[in-house]
Amino acid sequence: MSESAFTPRVFSGIQPTGNLHLGNYLGAMKRFVDMQGADFETIYCMVDLHAVTVWQDPKDLMKSTRELCAGFIAAGIDPEKSILINQSQVPEHAQLAWIFNCVARMGWMQRMTQWKDKAGKNAQNASLGLFAYPALMAADILVYHATHVPVGEDQKQHLELTRDIAIKFNHDYGVDFFPETEPVIEGAATRVMSLRDGSKKMSKSDVSDASRINLTDDADAIAKKIRKAKTDPEALPSEANGLEERPEARNLVNIYAALNEQSVDQVLADVGGKQFSEFKPMLADLAVSKLAPISTEMARLMDNQDEIDRILARGSQRAREITVPILRKTYDIVGMVPPVQL
Ligand code: AMP
Ligand code: TRP
Repeated sequence: MSESAFTPRVFSGIQPTGNLHLGNYLGAMKRFVDMQGADFETIYCMVDLHAVTVWQDPKDLMKSTRELCAGFIAAGIDPEKSILINQSQVPEHAQLAWIFNCVARMGWMQRMTQWKDKAGKNAQNASLGLFAYPALMAADILVYHATHVPVGEDQKQHLELTRDIAIKFNHDYGVDFFPETEPVIEGAATRVMSLRDGSKKMSKSDVSDASRINLTDDADAIAKKIRKAKTDPEALPSEANGLEERPEARNLVNIYAALNEQSVDQVLADVGGKQFSEFKPMLADLAVSKLAPISTEMARLMDNQDEIDRILARGSQRAREITVPILRKTYDIVGMVPPVQL
C-alpha cells in the first residue's frame, strides 16, 4: 500500500512511570521536538493505560503523568503546535485495542522480547494487560492513521508488530484502511547506555541512580554522575571505528554528539586524542547547559498543575476530532451496528 494516501502524521508515547532520564530525552523527546513543525501533524501521548500493566500507586501515577507532561513542554513540545494527551482521556485508544486483541495472534505476542523480559520466569502471574501491551500500542498509533513513529531502538519489535496488525486487519477485511507505519529510529542516541555498565541500556528501573541522568537532576548531580561514569584507560580515538569494543567510551561520545547536535565523526575530530579526565568535564558542562533549563522549566510547570490539566483536556478534544471518525469507520468495517439518531 502506498503511504502517500495518508496525511503525514507523527505519533509517539512515553510511559508516565517516573524518573525521566537522558535516554528518554535523547532517544525520544528531543526527536519529538525536532519533528514538530510544517511537515507533520504531531501527537504525543502519556501512556497511562500502558503504565498500569504493572502495578502503579495511584497517587504516583497521577504525579508522574503531570510531570511527564511538564517534561514534554519543558523539552520544547509546544501544545499549540502538537497535540499533547494522556491516553486514558481519549477512549478510542482502548476501544481500537480491543479490536486489535482479536486480530493479533497469541504466538505474535509471545515472541515479544519486552514481554519476555518483563514477565520473566513468572509469566503465569503477569497481568493479561502486560501480554496485550503491544496491541494497545498498535491502537495508539493506528487510531490516528499515524505514518511515522519516532522511538528508541528498544521499541523496534513493537513497531513491526504494529505493521503486522495493520496488514492482517486490511487483509482479513479486504480493505486498504490502516497505513503501514514507519519507525523513525535515528541519530546518535537511539540507545543510551547505563553510565555504570556499557552493556545495559539506561533505564528508569535500574536500582542504581548513578546509572542514569534524570531530567530532574541538578547541575551538581549531573556533573558528579558524569565524573564517576565508567570508562576505560585509553585516550579517545579520532575516528568512529576506534570506539568498537569500547562500549562505555562510545556511549559518552554518542551522548555528547546527540546533545551537541553533531555527528560522532565531528565530535571525534575535535576530541580525538584527549583523555577522559579532559573529556568528562566538557561533557558535564554540555549536559548541564542543555538539561538545567529543562529541569527548571519542569519545576515551574509543576507549580501550575491547573495549566497542565487544561493542556491535557484541550489535547484530548483535538485528538478526538481524529480518533472518533477512525474508530467509527473501523467498527463499520468490522460490522458493528452504529447508533442511530433518536
Ligand atoms: P519508556 O520510558 O520505556 O516509556 O520509553 C519512552 C521512550 O524513550 C521510548 O521511545 C524509548 O525507546 C525511549 N528510551 C527509553 N530508554 C532509552 C535509552 N536508554 N536510550 C534511548 N532511548 C530510550
Ligand atoms: N511502549 C513504548 C515504550 O515503552 C511507549 C508507547 C506506548 C509508545 N504506545 C506507543 C511509543 C506508541 C510509540 C508509539 O517506550
